[in-house]
Formats: sequence, C-alpha cells, structure tokens
Amino acid sequence: MPDQKVALVIGATGIVGGNTIRHLDAKDDWQVVGLSRRRPYYESTATFISVDLGDAAECRTKLAGLDRVTHVFFAGYTERPSWAEQDAPNLALLVNPMEVIEPIATGLEHVCSLQGTKAYGSHLGAFKSPAKESDPRHMPPNFYYSQQDYLIEKSKGKNWSWSCMRPHAVCGHAVGIPMNLVSCIAVYATISKELGLPLRFPGSPITYRSMYMATEAGLLARAMEWAATTPSCADQAFNVVNGDYVRFEHMWPKFAEFFGMEPGPLQRIDLPLMMADKAPLWDEIVRKYDLVPNAYEDMAHWPFAQYIFNNEWDMMSDVTKCREFGFLDFVDTEQMFLNQFAELRANRIIP
Ligand SMILES: NC(=O)c1ccc[n+]([C@@H]2O[C@H](COP(=O)([O-])OP(=O)(O)OC[C@H]3O[C@@H](n4cnc5c(N)ncnc54)[C@H](OP(=O)(O)O)[C@@H]3O)[C@@H](O)[C@H]2O)c1
Repeated sequence: MPDQKVALVIGATGIVGGNTIRHLDAKDDWQVVGLSRRRPYYESTATFISVDLGDAAECRTKLAGLDRVTHVFFAGYTERPSWAEQDAPNLALLVNPMEVIEPIATGLEHVCSLQGTKAYGSHLGAFKSPAKESDPRHMPPNFYYSQQDYLIEKSKGKNWSWSCMRPHAVCGHAVGIPMNLVSCIAVYATISKELGLPLRFPGSPITYRSMYMATEAGLLARAMEWAATTPSCADQAFNVVNGDYVRFEHMWPKFAEFFGMEPGPLQRIDLPLMMADKAPLWDEIVRKYDLVPNAYEDMAHWPFAQYIFNNEWDMMSDVTKCREFGFLDFVDTEQMFLNQFAELRANRIIP
C-alpha cells in the first residue's frame, strides 16, 4: 500500500469540499477526514466530524484528536449580506480549526486554500482580464486576502507550505447546494418548459455576449491534490478553470436543445422576484414526473443566478501558470454543462 496521507477537508458538505472528498476517497493513498456542521449527502468511507467552525471552543473540543493530518484542504464558506461583512466569519472558519490542528499535526505538509476570481475583484465590476495570479489586489476587505495572509504568517519557519486555488463558477455534483449554476439553469429551464415558454436568457444582453469561464468540480479536486503534493507549488496561487472560454450566446441554443425547448429571445427578468412564487409549481413537477423530491430552495439560489447572468464584463483568468507548473488537465465547458444536465436527469432530479 502506498504511503498514507491524511487529508482534512474543511467544508465537507460544500460543492468544492464534497467533490474533493469524493476524489480523494477513491484513491488508496489518502485517508480522509471531513468537517462541516451537516452530515454529507454522499456515500463515503471518510471520517466526518460535525463541528461549528465558527466556534473556537467547539473546535478545541472536537478537533483535538486530529494529530495525524498531513494535508488540509480548506473549502469552508459562509455567506453574509455584504462582501465586507464576510471577512471576519470566513477568516474564523480557517483560523479556528488551524489553531487547534497546526500545533499538534507535526507531520503537516501543506494547506491548500480555496479562493476564486473575486480575488481579482470580479464582483466589483470590470477587472483586468485575463487575470493573472501576479495582478495586484483590489481595495480590501476581501476574506481571501485575510485567509491567505494568515497562512503566509502561520507557515513562516514551519515545515508546511500553502497554496491558493482560484476557480470560477464551480460546477459539479451537489445536492442541497443551490449556489450551483448547473442546477439553477436546469430548474429555470424545467419551469419555463412547464409553463410553455421558450428558454429565454434571463439576464443582460451584454452578459449573454461576454466571455465566461467555469471550473468543473472534478478538475478542481485534481488540481487541489496536485498543488498540495507538488513541492514547486509551495506558497503559490493558481487560477484553476476549465481552460476554454465561452459565451452564453453560443451555449444557450445547445442548452435549449438539451431541454427540448426553443431558444427564446433574450428577456431580462428579476430572477429573485419572478421565481419567488414557483415553489408550488416545482413541487407539482416533482410529483408529475416522479422525481427525487428536492426542496425548491435547495435547487436554485436566484440571487446567485441573477448575479451570474448580469455581470457585464469578461470573466477570464489566465491559466498559463498552472500549465507552467505542470497541471495540464482541461475540460470542455459547453460539454460539461450538457453532461451535468444529463446527470441531473439520470438521477431523476429534473425530468
Ligand atoms: N462554488 C463556486 O462556484 C465557487 C467559485 C469560486 C470560488 N469558490 C470558493 O470556494 C470555497 C468553497 O465554496 P463552496 O461553493 O464549496 O461553498 P459551499 O458549497 O457554500 O460550502 C461551504 C462549506 O462550508 C461549511 N461551513 C460553513 N459554515 C460552517 C461552520 N460554521 N462550521 C462548519 N462548516 C461550515 C459548509 O458546511 P455546513 O453548512 O454543513 O456546516 C459547507 O460544507 C469558497 O471560498 C468560495 O468562495 C467557490
């Protein structure tokens, strides 16, 4: 049996953390421990600890036995009403477990922490694109910066290194995670079809024609393992996206074809407002097509979809650095969407 590494995945029930656990779990050189408050929604041989990472005292009690951890994959995330308000609670999700584990896990080698394109200010407005890892930071606060600065300070003079991953629009297997572009589009299409509507792009015409990119969750998990175990990746940040760039304009007719619908003309609507009353219709669709019952609010987060469909600037991250350091994996983004819609259908989550 190969040398056993012990992965601690923080955020075990998230789209990133869950897919990371599923990836590592399939390999025989990793033992996996997952942390989150809820129990995971997927089958796994990993050990799970239910803990509120925002509570330092609870972390001290529940995480005191994690002295064999060799690699930490940090994919915890907590939402707050504003970006500025996210800083302290998100920093706590990293600091509270690290303050318990780092002193006792004497074999710790690496901490791989999740960031995203918001590290470049993609949420603030137009930003320099393609964005490079060496680009200067935007005006803080940004919880990614606080987390990265914590890791830089904490790792000084120690035997472990850190890395930061910068994906965009992570798409992958997820149940009960409504901030998932794949399920948002799938639910929007299913409801539109049931109402006899064409598949209209509900956002800005500028967004429809802008450059976009995404990160398949499996590709991200492979990149995280690579960064955590490749010595030259120590203390580096990496853009991790599929590697191609797309426009909704070109993908949308293919999506309509998948759902058996006409691609409609664009019509910008306020998704949180217009989709708010559709839960009874969703429940009716679940009954009518004998779907696995999933609550409407677990399937789609309309403010998230509204945000994605109305960013009127190119979303492009440069992937040269990853390639230079040796990660050559890629995914066809349009095909990724179609495959993941098909997976939702095969799992009877959509008709
Ligand atoms: N999803 C994307 O498209 C995307 C794109 C770019 C970057 N990112 C970045 O990737 C990282 C992970 O994002 P994600 O989308 O995977 O997040 P997510 O799906 O919302 O998952 C967040 C995870 O954090 C856990 N968590 C939150 N508060 C907790 C608490 N108090 N105690 C214990 N666990 C807690 C959640 O578990 P419980 O709720 O069960 O406790 C869940 O497992 C974030 O930094 C995000 O900014 C994500």
